[in-house]
This record gives sequence, C-alpha cells and structure tokens, in this order.
Amino acid sequence: MERDSLIFLAGHKGLVGSALLRQLKAKGYGNLIVRSHAELDLERQSEVESFFDKERPEYVFLAAAKVGGIWANNTYPAEFIYKNLAIQTNVIHAAWKTGIKRLAFLGSSCIYPRECPQPMNEEHLLSGTLEATNEPYAVAKIAGVKMCESYNRQYGANYVALMPTNLYGPNDNFDLETSHVLPALIRKFHEAKQGVSSQQSAVSGRTAHLSTLATDQPSQPVVIWGTGEPRREFLHVDDLADACIFIMNLDEEDFRPLVSAYRTPLINIGWGKDISIKELALIVKEVIGFEGEMTFDTTKPDGTPRKLLDINRINRVGWSAKISLREGIKLTYKWCLENSIF
Ligand SMILES: NC(=O)c1ccc[n+]([C@@H]2O[C@H](COP(=O)([O-])OP(=O)(O)OC[C@H]3O[C@@H](n4cnc5c(N)ncnc54)[C@H](OP(=O)(O)O)[C@@H]3O)[C@@H](O)[C@H]2O)c1
Repeated sequence: MERDSLIFLAGHKGLVGSALLRQLKAKGYGNLIVRSHAELDLERQSEVESFFDKERPEYVFLAAAKVGGIWANNTYPAEFIYKNLAIQTNVIHAAWKTGIKRLAFLGSSCIYPRECPQPMNEEHLLSGTLEATNEPYAVAKIAGVKMCESYNRQYGANYVALMPTNLYGPNDNFDLETSHVLPALIRKFHEAKQGVSSQQSAVSGRTAHLSTLATDQPSQPVVIWGTGEPRREFLHVDDLADACIFIMNLDEEDFRPLVSAYRTPLINIGWGKDISIKELALIVKEVIGFEGEMTFDTTKPDGTPRKLLDINRINRVGWSAKISLREGIKLTYKWCLENSIF
C-alpha cells in the first residue's frame, strides 16, 4: 500500500477496526474510507455494491462482523450466521467486482475444531467437529475463508484470511455479563480495589457472570470461575493491527505464495505463548494494584484446557508480536481510566 492508496476499513468503530484506524493513521495512510454501521449497512447487498462502485477502494480491511461471547452465540445463532455470511459475502463479492488490489478478511480461531491438536495450525481447518456453542458463527467465518480461497483460485484475486487469537485492548467490551476473560478481570480487580458497591462477580475462563450481591467492603475477594488452570493466548489489538498492515504490505514475492491458487489463504495471528488463567489474574491484580485476595470457584466449569495458535506461517514472512502481556494490560488499564470506562 502507498501512503495515498485508497483504503476501505470496514468496522472501524470496533475493537479491531479502531486499532486498525489508529495504526493506519499513525503510519501515514491518509486516504482512508470509513462508514459507520448507520451510514452503510454491510448486510445490504445493493448498498454495498453502490458504495464500492462509487468509492472504488484499492485495499479493503474487513473487520466488520457480528461478534459476541458464548451467551450471545448460544442465544442468537441465526443472527450470528446470517449477519456474518451477509456482511462478508457482500463485501468480498463487491470488492472483486470493482477490481480491488488486496483484501484482508478477519476471522477468529474458533474456526478450528473443538478437539484441535495444540498449537492449532492452518492445516487443521475442517479436520474435525466444531465447538457447538459458536458453530453458526464459526461456519460463517469458514465460509469467508473459503470465499477468499475460491476468489483467489478462480479470479486470481489477492485475498487473505487472518485468524487472530484472543484480543484485548482499547475499545474492548468491559461489560461483565458479556465480556471475555481479560477485560472482565481488569474490571473486577479495579472495582475490588475501589471497593465499589456493585455486584460481586465471578470470572470464568471466557465469560464473566454476575453472582451474589456484594457489600461495600473494599477487601471483597475477586472470585474467578473454575480452577484457573486452563491456558489461553492473548494478543494486544495494536499488535494485531500491525500484523494486518504488515501482511497487506508484503512484497509480491512473499504475498503471492499466501494467496496461491492451491492453498487456503489462512494466516494465524497470535503471540505464540499461552498462559494459565491463574497466571493471567495475578498479572492483572498486580498491574491494577489490588492487594486483597482472589479465589477460584472450582464448582464452575473450566472449558477447553488449552487454546494456542501455531504462528509459524506469519513468523516465516517476518512478523511477530511486540507488546508483552504485562505491558499490554498496563496500556489497556490506562486507557480505561482515561476514558472513564468503569
Ligand atoms: N475481539 C476478539 O477477541 C477477536 C478475536 C479474534 C478475532 N476477532 C475478529 O475480528 C473481527 C472484528 O471483531 P471485533 O472484536 O472488533 O468486533 P466489534 O468490536 O464488535 O466490532 C465490529 C464492528 O463491525 C460493525 N458492524 C457489525 N455489523 C455491521 C453491519 N451490518 N454493517 C456495518 N458495520 C457493521 C460494528 O458496528 P456496530 O457496533 O455499530 O454494529 C462494529 O463497529 C471479527 O471478525 C472477529 O471475528 C475478534
């Protein structure tokens, strides 16, 4: 991409999209096209086609999606499959019709089978049964990967499908009922430190759940769901944005093999190391400066023991993450305080 290339960033207000917007601006890309959901509903095929016809972007980052945790996926499976299929189908097809140069489609590691060998590499796609709770979402994302692959194969397009691990950072969801484990821990330790009179919550391996009513005591222990032993991988969203731009900017020589007609153009993006929920909680506790106790509610389920991406493919083209977990949590907490998130 040149600094004046016309770049369409879909989903610029979300966790991933807002990080991409910050990084693209910081790296000097000045010709960015963004539209809010209200301005352009990507589920509407005719609107998307008119938009591409008029704007004719050269590069597309597709970070717009219907996203949510286990509860939302379980409760709204039709919305998850329909909306994601519609958004990606409309954008990928309209992008091809107007002849864009390159496209990066964002997916998620939940495309890999439930019992996937660890670490999960790109060759594991479609090698086993998916996790039932988010199967409709995962199936939609797999369809997006296969669309990229098919357009590359039939039309010689240059579309990559980027699969990040668990992300965190500015503009994450810090709502205790629907957030992922890391933002939930940040909120809980912060509130415990403040002695906030709110509802005491328990934090699971993936989702936070409200439980008993709390008191005003500042030293209420923070309760974490499960044993704390499951291992997860976390990547700061600014590292992800850096990786997306890096891939989009690869020389033809490095980019071509990724989108070759005979391969799925799938690239995992992760930190490369996992950490137990207990170790994670200890880092968050220390960064926030909570001196009370944390306890584990072992009557609650742990979920999958381990989820780690194999990142050899992206390492081989020369990218690796730079923001350590401790530093990333510090940055995220600082952002929360500056933006009055709690
Ligand atoms: N968050 C993670 O930990 C994580 C991990 C791995 C992969 N990813 C992937 O990264 C991508 C983005 O996720 P995210 O966490 O950034 O999600 P997000 O914060 O929910 O952002 C998604 C954005 O898409 C927009 N959008 C949704 N439907 C739209 C539509 N019909 N038309 C136009 N815009 C629409 C949303 O706008 P509104 O809010 O106004 O609807 C929102 O700004 C997804 O593909 C996801 O699978 C995320």
